[in-house]
Amino acid sequence: MASRAAARSFARSAASAARAPIASRVLAAAPRFAARAAAPAVFSSSIQQSRGIKTLNFGGSQEKVYERSDWPKEKLLDYFKNDTIAVLGYGPQGHGQGLNLRDNGLNVIVGVRKDGRSWKKAVAEGWVPGKNLFSIEEAADKGNIVFNLLSDAAQRDLWPTIKPYITPGKTLYFSHGFAITYKDQTHVEAPQGVDVVLCAPKGSGATLRTLFLEGKGLNSSIAVFQDVSGKAHERVVGLGVAIGSGYLYETTFEKEVYSDLVGERGILMGAINGLFRAQYDVLRAQGHSPSEAFNETVEEATQSLIPLIGAKGMDWMYANCSVTAQRGALDWHQKFYDASLPVFKDLYESVKNGSETKRALDKNSQPDYRESLELELEEIRGSEIWRAGETVRSLRPENNK
Ligand SMILES: NC(=O)c1ccc[n+]([C@@H]2O[C@H](COP(=O)([O-])OP(=O)(O)OC[C@H]3O[C@@H](n4cnc5c(N)ncnc54)[C@H](OP(=O)(O)O)[C@@H]3O)[C@@H](O)[C@H]2O)c1
Repeated sequence: MASRAAARSFARSAASAARAPIASRVLAAAPRFAARAAAPAVFSSSIQQSRGIKTLNFGGSQEKVYERSDWPKEKLLDYFKNDTIAVLGYGPQGHGQGLNLRDNGLNVIVGVRKDGRSWKKAVAEGWVPGKNLFSIEEAADKGNIVFNLLSDAAQRDLWPTIKPYITPGKTLYFSHGFAITYKDQTHVEAPQGVDVVLCAPKGSGATLRTLFLEGKGLNSSIAVFQDVSGKAHERVVGLGVAIGSGYLYETTFEKEVYSDLVGERGILMGAINGLFRAQYDVLRAQGHSPSEAFNETVEEATQSLIPLIGAKGMDWMYANCSVTAQRGALDWHQKFYDASLPVFKDLYESVKNGSETKRALDKNSQPDYRESLELELEEIRGSEIWRAGETVRSLRPENNK
């Protein structure tokens, strides 16, 4: 039954992929997939269930994962009934986490600078000044669980303002290991007598909110830096569920920030942009038109192949492309690995030794930091590859009414 359903769902996705012109190299392989799906799920035999905690086999390593089934809404309401959660900052995370906490029925207030962009956004989203919307200082004072969701640069700049309110018995919560790990640069030290925890959603606050409203959850990492109450771990699991996480993975503050900074500078944003540009420029230099260079570099990747990697893995995507494509990819992936490995090693070192932090703090605390980021984004926006992309996107069936 499950295998038939999986085969049907595969056939549907393969059929819709086949309808897209650029997906023509992806072959239908339902029978092969059905045979695989009939086998037990990779990790099912290794699950050791203990209430909401699972130990799962991740490619050969056993790791603990916490799930929300252990924290139904009634338990959340009871567990946090005497707590006031102060969310400092109303950027993407303050918005997503704050609204999800509020909709879960917890006692939550927001603290942002008065009449700034975030204040106006919070008012527009139903937070009421004097009732559950305050200045940063007032909110930090009123809350006994304080979410520091200011920008990473503001966490450094405002720490002297916030610190006096983080008194013994409170819980200090972050969504990034940044401020604490790089304390030599941020001067954010874990205050005495305070639990210091982290829950970092692996995605934007907007995604956290959307998935919550759909009844789903975004996965998050959790960590405990300082456990004074003896309950810090239990508390952060509960908070992770309350903000709308699905599964919670264990990490440390240091590992979270190192992997996060490497990821966004690497594959997630920096490396992908560099690779796209390099291939596009070679194709253009060899006389290919902008549309052809864009289609073969970005459009096919984002619209056809990367979604398949996400859904079923790299091996599956390869196996369902033509043998010509497979031969080429299998021959060339090692060359790209060899070329990029030293760059990733440099990047990790630059993160670990604090250079990336120094640069982010220096640049993002300039009074005109948003304007200068905008100028650099404008350069990308105005470049030929992304202008070509605008036209290609307009020709997608859904945009070409
Ligand atoms: N965005 C993500 O995808 C993501 C994912 C996981 C974790 N995180 C982490 O979550 C935390 C919050 O990130 P975010 O993206 O939500 O935040 P953000 O957009 O970088 O900034 C959030 C808030 O910082 C305030 N702020 C900035 N400078 C200030 C200053 N000088 N004084 C007072 N307030 C100031 C802003 O208020 P104004 O509007 O008044 O300027 C805004 O409310 C960070 O630690 C981040 O690393 C982010």
